[in-house]
Amino acid sequence: MSNEERLDKLQRLRDQIKQGGGQRRVDLQHERGKLTARERIHALLDEGTFEEFDEMVLLSGTEFDHDKVQAESVVTGWGRIDGRPVYVFSQDFTVVGGSLSTPMGEKIIKIMDLALRNGAPVIGLNDGGGARIQEGVDALASYGDIFTRNVLASGVIPQISVVMGPTAGGAVYSPALTDFIFMTEGTSQMYLTGPDVIKAVTGEDVTHEELGGAMAHASRSGVCHFAVDGEEDCLQEVRRLLSFLPLNNMEDPPFVETGDEPDRRDEELLRIVPEEAGRPYDMREIIYRVVDIGDFLEVHAHWAQNMIVGLARMDGRTVGIVGNQPLYLAGVIDIDSSRKAARFVRFCDAFNIPVLTFVDTGGFLPGTSQEYGGIITHGAKLVYAYAEATVPKVTIVIRKAYGGAYDAMGSKHLRADLNLAWPTGEIAVMGPEPAVNIIYRSELATASNVEETRAQLVEEYKDKFANPYVAASKGFIDDVIDPRETRGRIIRALDMLRTKNDHIPPKKHGNTPL
Ligand code: HXC
Repeated sequence: MSNEERLDKLQRLRDQIKQGGGQRRVDLQHERGKLTARERIHALLDEGTFEEFDEMVLLSGTEFDHDKVQAESVVTGWGRIDGRPVYVFSQDFTVVGGSLSTPMGEKIIKIMDLALRNGAPVIGLNDGGGARIQEGVDALASYGDIFTRNVLASGVIPQISVVMGPTAGGAVYSPALTDFIFMTEGTSQMYLTGPDVIKAVTGEDVTHEELGGAMAHASRSGVCHFAVDGEEDCLQEVRRLLSFLPLNNMEDPPFVETGDEPDRRDEELLRIVPEEAGRPYDMREIIYRVVDIGDFLEVHAHWAQNMIVGLARMDGRTVGIVGNQPLYLAGVIDIDSSRKAARFVRFCDAFNIPVLTFVDTGGFLPGTSQEYGGIITHGAKLVYAYAEATVPKVTIVIRKAYGGAYDAMGSKHLRADLNLAWPTGEIAVMGPEPAVNIIYRSELATASNVEETRAQLVEEYKDKFANPYVAASKGFIDDVIDPRETRGRIIRALDMLRTKNDHIPPKKHGNTPL
């Protein structure tokens, strides 16, 4: 065989392999508003940078049938996003429904091992029917091998899952072990057991979308961090997320020149917090005005909205932002918002991202549903995450910081580096009304005009305790600042903290209240 013939044979094989499960299945994929595995990779990566691995791993049974040569149901390799390396696997639904076989598992594991050794993120594009039923326990074993890689890579390299089709059964656990899950609206579903099994076991009627669609997980369960309409837009959002992250836990996040003035004062910051105590406002307005060019990537935007978390830049450097949201449930801290913020703080800490916290919360949410649901354990996650984190931590009390929430939201006592307050700050054990009802119970019981006495006592309490100056006089708040100077103060603090070198005592690992 001549060289020309050899190269021709190679090219024919490649062309056959690239057809995936054949034109009919590719057309069906497109009709459903979905791209193919390769099209997705090309939409995700910098143009022309994809280098494929194991393209020649063929579906068993097709090796010797040259009319039917078909690759296994995943495309794997590496490429670049904004010039930086990333590893990718993309399940091919057109081949046996993207179901996971042993060779497919081996392809994925090879990519994950390379990513871990070379210190670069892994992005998994999921679109498949779960364990390949014909393979039985071998397919289950492959899942287990992938889960182990997810766990070993956790906190070492960023792991991102994009769910772009069905992901059912135990297959959901690989995405769940990664740092962020993106889902495409209307075309992706995740669930442990599907609608038919649910109907048989509990009698509930539920559609695939209601049960495991993007919005179900983005707004109700919190499993999904980003629900995005359209595959191309979804993959662009993955690129945006990566632009904030380091390649691995030994690196700092990339510096991006944003052109925003570090010392920029903002008059509007004086007007955001309403005059009347207790009136809501949108904490995101403060965040947008403080960070570089208003660029804030909100994580979990639809879930536990009483807490805001997300990524932004301050003078070109990535920060993780946590903030109470007075617009929802008055920014109260509950089970879901504790879990949301705690996990985010731990992510930031693992990847050298400083944490910036904006506080305005009346405290933890009272009620039997919260207590029986374990708010004690879940709230403890928040405390644990802040206290454990060794990255630079800067906290600004905007308005209320009452009770346990004062401690939990990045207080000095949980090893924050710089704690500032606006003059509108209120830091005390509890809000004026409940405090007066408790400490003046007997006075109120005997007062001739209860309401008048109560109003007077509340005013006295506010003057005495509901301000930032008591905490500042004890050094728990380092300074009370002019709100208009917030951005400059934070940037200077982060600059000062760039050389921070803090540790936790040597241990195998702590015992996070799970
Ligand atoms: C083998 C599978 C498959 C699977 C789909 N296919 N899932 N083959 N093993 N798990 C095949 C189908 O036979 C079909 O082949 C092709 O893929 C496309 O599937 P369709 O059913 O035609 O597509 P659609 O109607 O879009 O439905 C997609 C689906 C459905 C919702 C994913 O196929 C489905 O429910 N599959 C089973 C899902 C499941 O229960 N998986 C096991 C989960 S348990 P042809 O040749 O006809 O085109 C699990 C355990 C993991 O994963 C444990 C880890 C700890």
